[in-house]
Amino acid sequence: MKQTDLSTAYGLIHLPAKVALVVTEKPQSGYNLITIEWFMRTSIQPPMFAISIGLTRFSHECLQQNRYFNLVFPSVEMKDICALAGSTTGREIDKMESSQVKYFPGKLHKIPVLEEAVAVFECEIVTQVRSGDHTIFVGEIKYCWANPEKRMLVYDIKGEI
Ligand SMILES: Cc1cc2nc3c(=O)[nH]c(=O)nc-3n(C[C@H](O)[C@H](O)[C@H](O)COP(=O)(O)O)c2cc1C
Repeated sequence: MKQTDLSTAYGLIHLPAKVALVVTEKPQSGYNLITIEWFMRTSIQPPMFAISIGLTRFSHECLQQNRYFNLVFPSVEMKDICALAGSTTGREIDKMESSQVKYFPGKLHKIPVLEEAVAVFECEIVTQVRSGDHTIFVGEIKYCWANPEKRMLVYDIKGEI
């Protein structure tokens, strides 16, 4: 064991990683998608998920306005959607439209439930905390959806989604 710099240490623990998509409601109308890696379960009862969203992301603006999100665990078939949602901003393009993603309205706030996902959790934000250049939004899970036969997408050792 030896002391090292931050990027070397991060590089060693980074992969493999799960990725998720977060669907939010835009301030005016419509929905946005973002790919995230920084999320975790934070409570058993009530069940909760926390997501960490950069202050500069359009998704951050959406979550400040509309306090609901769907946390989507993508299947391997959703690789292209994750690449698009993680490399473009909803300020410039409509990611729901350009990805042609299939969905139906959720039960909580009609936020899209992506049909091809392994699992989707409909959440309502109950608290948030600033964490440096990100905000951690903590959402209580209200409804869950699942496709047990689908295989989950993993961000692998080659660093590719
Ligand atoms: C694999 C991967 C993981 C990412 N993880 C996060 C994350 O945890 N939090 C975050 O704010 N951005 C994350 N990003 C960056 C956003 O997905 C990206 O900046 C996106 O274009 C923001 O979209 P928006 O402006 O429409 O919200 C990640 C991107 C990739 C490709």
